[in-house]
Amino acid sequence: MKVKEAEQKINQLSKELHEHNHRYYLLDAPIISDQSFDELLNELQKLEDAFPELALENSPTKRVGGGITKNFKTVEHRYPMLSLGNSYSKEDLIDFEKRIKKITVESEVEYTAELKYDGVAIGLLYEKGELVQAVTRGDGTHGDDVTTNVRTIKSVPLRLSGQYPEEFEIRGEIFMPKKAFKALNDEKSQAGLALMANPRNTASGTLKMQNSKVVAERNLDCIFYHMIGNDLPFNNHFDNLIAASSWGFKMPTLANQYIKKCPDMEGVFDFIEYWDAARDNLDFEVDGVVVKVNSYKSQDLLGFTSKSPRWAIAFKFETERVCTKLLSITYQVGRTGAVTPVANLEPVSLLGTTVKRASLHNEDFIAALGLHFNDEVYVEKGGEIIPKVVAVNKEVRLKDAQVITHLNICPECQSDLERSAGEANYYCTNESSCPPQITGKIQHFISRKAMDVDGLGSETVEQLFAAGLIRDVADLYDLTGVQLLPLERMAEKSVNKLILGLIQSKQVKFSRVLYALGIRFVGHTVAKKLATHFHSMEALSMAQHEELMAVDEIGEVIATSVRAYFDSREHQLLLRRLKKSGLQFCLSEDEMKSNEQKEGGLLAGMSVVVSGVFQGFSRDQLKQMIEQNGGKNVSAISKSTSYLLTGDKVGPSKMAKAQKLGVVTISEKDFLEMLSI
Ligand code: IVH
Repeated sequence: MKVKEAEQKINQLSKELHEHNHRYYLLDAPIISDQSFDELLNELQKLEDAFPELALENSPTKRVGGGITKNFKTVEHRYPMLSLGNSYSKEDLIDFEKRIKKITVESEVEYTAELKYDGVAIGLLYEKGELVQAVTRGDGTHGDDVTTNVRTIKSVPLRLSGQYPEEFEIRGEIFMPKKAFKALNDEKSQAGLALMANPRNTASGTLKMQNSKVVAERNLDCIFYHMIGNDLPFNNHFDNLIAASSWGFKMPTLANQYIKKCPDMEGVFDFIEYWDAARDNLDFEVDGVVVKVNSYKSQDLLGFTSKSPRWAIAFKFETERVCTKLLSITYQVGRTGAVTPVANLEPVSLLGTTVKRASLHNEDFIAALGLHFNDEVYVEKGGEIIPKVVAVNKEVRLKDAQVITHLNICPECQSDLERSAGEANYYCTNESSCPPQITGKIQHFISRKAMDVDGLGSETVEQLFAAGLIRDVADLYDLTGVQLLPLERMAEKSVNKLILGLIQSKQVKFSRVLYALGIRFVGHTVAKKLATHFHSMEALSMAQHEELMAVDEIGEVIATSVRAYFDSREHQLLLRRLKKSGLQFCLSEDEMKSNEQKEGGLLAGMSVVVSGVFQGFSRDQLKQMIEQNGGKNVSAISKSTSYLLTGDKVGPSKMAKAQKLGVVTISEKDFLEMLSI
C-alpha cells in the first residue's frame, strides 16, 4: 500500500472508531457489534504497525495502552488546581451564602449543586478538538503528565465532536467504578494477592502506573465538572457543562441528575437530601455535593483565597462510622513545637483500611468530645482517608473512668508546655533543643516546595540527627563525605548524591529559602509576597511591624510572627551561616527586572480578557505580555474588566457583554501600540 493511501485509510478508520467509541461509551447506543469494532481496530493497528510514522497521537488504538512511562514529567498548571472549602451542615451553607451576598452585587444568586465524585482530580487540555495533555493535581501548581495513561480511559474523548472552543481546559475526577473495583479485588483474592483498600486509592495508584496497558485493563472512568477557557460558549458554569456533553465528555446532566440549577439554598438542600439517600445506588463513590455560584461574572467578583474559590464549597456527606476502644493517648511534637494528642485505638476496619490511630487535635477538641480514658469512641474517615474520632459512646463508660487532661510537660524533652491566649495548641518552649522540633524544621527545610534537596529524605534527616551531625538547617551545608560514609545505608553513591543535592539547593530562589525557614504563618504565598516586596533577607529582617503590615495581604498575625523570628539572636546567627554557605538571600536580577517591569508596567492594576484568534501572536503569548506589563488575565468579562482584547471570531456573547458593561474593546493592533511593540 502506498503511503498516501495508508494515510487516508488510517484517518478514516480513526474517525470511524472515535465515533463508535462515543456511541458505545457515552451514548450507550452502539451501531456495530463488538466483534466488528475489534476488526476495525485490528485493521487500524496493522496499518499503524506498517506505517508507524502515520499513527495519530490520539489514535483509538491508544485506548488499549502499550505506552510505558518511566518517569512522569512534571508540568506547571496554566491555572492552579485548587481545592474546595468544606461544609458539613445547613448552617455552614447559609454562612457560605452570607459571605457571597456580601460581595456580589446581584441580590439573587443562582447556584448549581452537583455530585462530589470521590476520585483523583485531572486537568485535560484540548486544542483544536484533540486531547493534548492530561495532568494530575500534584501540589496544585505542578502536576504529573499522565496523558498516555489517561488516553486509555474510555470515557475521556480523544477527539471531540460538535462546536467546541479552539482551546480549553476541562477538569474532572478519575475514579474506579464500584463494579470494576470489586472485579479487581475478586481477581486478586483468587490469585492469593493482597487486596486493594478502596476505589479511590486504587484509581490514584492506577493512574501512576508505568505500563498503560495495565491501566487500560483497570476500567477507570472520568466525569467532568469544571471548564476554563477564553472562548467557552456560555457565561455560566451550568450551560458550559451541558454544552461539553455534546462534544463527547461524560458530564453531569439534567438526565442523570448529577447536577441541578438552584435559584436559592433551599434547592441546594433538596439536592443534598436526595443524593444522600440515593448515592448508594450509583456505581461510583461520592463523598458529598459541590455547590457553586453559577454565573462567571459573580465568580469573578468573588475570586479566590490562596487555597480555594470563594464561589464554591463542598458539602460532605456523613460517612461510615465505627465504634472502637480508646487504648491510650500519645502526644506528638511537630516542627513548630505544637503538641498534638493522638488516640491509639483498638484496631478496627473502616472503609477498607484498618484504623489504629486518629488525631485528637488539641485540648479543646478532647474537651468538646468529653473524652475519658478507656472510652468507646466512634471513628469516621475525614475525606475518606484520615480517620477521626467524632463522638464518644457515653452509655458504656466505666464508672470510675478518668477525664483526660492535657500534658503540661513536653513528652520529648520534658520542657514546659505553654498555651497562649487565642491558641488552640500547647507548644513546647524548648525550640532550640527539642528533638522533633529540630528534625521537623530540617525536614520542612529540605522538602519539595522548599529547598527541594535531592538525595535527602525525612528518614535520613532523623539518621543524621541521631548521629549528632546536624542540629539545625545550617549544619546541612557543613556536612562532609568523611562524616557521612561511615553511616548505615550511606554508600559512596548516596553520599555524593546528597552532597550534590545540597550544592544544587544553593540556587533555589530567595522566596523559597524564606519559606523553607519555617517562620510561623509564612507559607508559600506569603513568602513570595514578602520576597517581592522587600527584595532581600536583610531588608526584610530590618522591616518594622508597620512596614510589614503595609504589604498587601500581610496582617497583624503574620507581621508579629515575622518580627519575632528576626528578633531572635539565634535566628540571626543561623541566617548568617546560611548566607555564608551561599544560599539565595535576595531576588535574582531577572526577578528584579520582571518585578520592576510589572510594578511600573503599562497595564499595572488592569485586568484584561483575551478572546478570539490573533494574527501575530498566540493567545498565550498575548497573555504573557499582559502579565509582563503588570496586568492580570481574567477569563470572563465583568464590570471591573479594563479591556477586552479581541481577535477574529470573538464570541458574540462576549462582545455583547462588553458593550453592555461598557468594557473597552481593543484589537491586537491597538494592544501592541499601547505597549509600543
Ligand atoms: S469543583 C475550582 N466539582 O473535590 C473548582 N470538584 O475537595 C474546584 N471534586 O479538587 C473543583 N467532584 O478534585 C468540583 N463536582 C465537583 C467535584 C469536585 C469532585 C473534587 C476535585 C476537587 C476536590 C475538592
